[in-house]
Amino acid sequence: MSSLAPKVSPKNLILLLPGDFVGGNALIVCIDGINKDLLSTVSSRADKLLVLDNGESTTTAIDNIQHCEVECIKKEDINNLSSCSLVLYNGVIDAEFASVCLSCLLPDGYVMLVTKCAQIDESVENQSEPTTYSVDKVLKSTPSIKSFGFVFVASRTIEKYEDNHMLYCSVFKKVLLDPKLDRRLDSLQDVLNDRTYTTKILRIFDKVFSREGDPGFISTGGADVTQECLKKLDLQPGQRVLDVGCGAGGPLIQTAKKYKTHMIGVDISSNMIDAAAEATEKLQDLNIELEVCDIERREFPEGYFDAIYSKDVILHIVRKKDLFKKFLKWLKPGGKLLITDYCKTENEQFSDLMQAYMEKRANVWFLITPSTYGQLIKDAGFVNNDVQVKHDIFRECAVKENISFVNKKENLLKEFDQAFVDDWLDVWKKKVQIIDNGDLTWGVFYSEKAL
Ligand SMILES: C[S@@+](CC[C@H](N)C(=O)[O-])C[C@H]1O[C@@H](n2cnc3c(N)ncnc32)[C@H](O)[C@@H]1O
Repeated sequence: MSSLAPKVSPKNLILLLPGDFVGGNALIVCIDGINKDLLSTVSSRADKLLVLDNGESTTTAIDNIQHCEVECIKKEDINNLSSCSLVLYNGVIDAEFASVCLSCLLPDGYVMLVTKCAQIDESVENQSEPTTYSVDKVLKSTPSIKSFGFVFVASRTIEKYEDNHMLYCSVFKKVLLDPKLDRRLDSLQDVLNDRTYTTKILRIFDKVFSREGDPGFISTGGADVTQECLKKLDLQPGQRVLDVGCGAGGPLIQTAKKYKTHMIGVDISSNMIDAAAEATEKLQDLNIELEVCDIERREFPEGYFDAIYSKDVILHIVRKKDLFKKFLKWLKPGGKLLITDYCKTENEQFSDLMQAYMEKRANVWFLITPSTYGQLIKDAGFVNNDVQVKHDIFRECAVKENISFVNKKENLLKEFDQAFVDDWLDVWKKKVQIIDNGDLTWGVFYSEKAL
């Protein structure tokens, strides 16, 4: 994980509290104190708080709680607990307690961990202090109980301390593990981090897509094409905008600079969010929040965003219509949605070249035609829908990127090994071929939420 923290304030902890957590018992474990705003928000949504406290600092926060029953419990009571809808754990969780959380939670219940972490040092094996990586690993590797297990929802670096530590918050959900679905989605995060978007691949993408002084572009057309597409949103200063699958942050930074909007960038790949955090680190005057999250499991408050956009991301998502319904819910009335994405054409089957290409990209592409795409957005409840197939622009971009790659080859070889550069040159050459032979095209989708 990165040693850099995005610019966020502790109040952003509250935004991580899942929007669909309402009612039921909440177990609050306060090993290292508690954030009182977070506690107060939890108490406003839960029916009852069960508080396990190791210190005195929590007492005042608990005393201030009104309109919610509070029961202080002891450690030995923990194993008998059941039917909690949330566990809020402030401290360093271990495997044993993670199992307790799994058994005391209701299905679809959440664990929210708030931990002071050391920033990971990849060179140190078995680092003794908790790191973002080890915190998440405890939950991810909790053995399932009656086929229920934890899946990752979201995480944020909340605050960075002088002493090279940070406050880190991550959220997991208890779900019935469908081996075909949820484990696949979990492995999607690993596949994207470890195969599709390794830090080395991100560096070479950046060289191809980004311009000098305009970093963080890793998809079709770079800064210019992104800018052109986003015009349609007619963004205004101060509006709250969600960038779904924000990648290395190029589009998000460009938008925040141009429109002075409040940007929330989320991406399932921590490599991407690390890169975006690095790109935004010196841009403290911009209003940018970053979060690692699986957009399929995340819940934002209803009517929270003025606009949502997503550039070349939803190709990775199987249940697209469910996602569009969530977008509709998260938008304010009159809110705008802009999506660009890779699509398949009306061709019956993919060519062998295309099959091999998708295999090379770790087989995490789930493509549909632009017309199906438009229909799914409409069926989700959006109005004023506009579907545009931008095949020529897509081809033009791929050709330009291919040429730029060839021209930069000598320089790239100073930074990357020959086999890696040749491999990626070949990928770009083939990208033009699969566009030309009708396997792949590109759609731009604009929609609105009714007033
Ligand atoms: C081709 S990149 C585009 C990045 C960025 N939008 C841009 O235009 O530069 C696709 C991005 O989608 C992200 N992604 C894929 N599935 C996701 C999910 N379920 N939740 C959040 N992000 C996801 C990937 O990690 C990756 O960063």
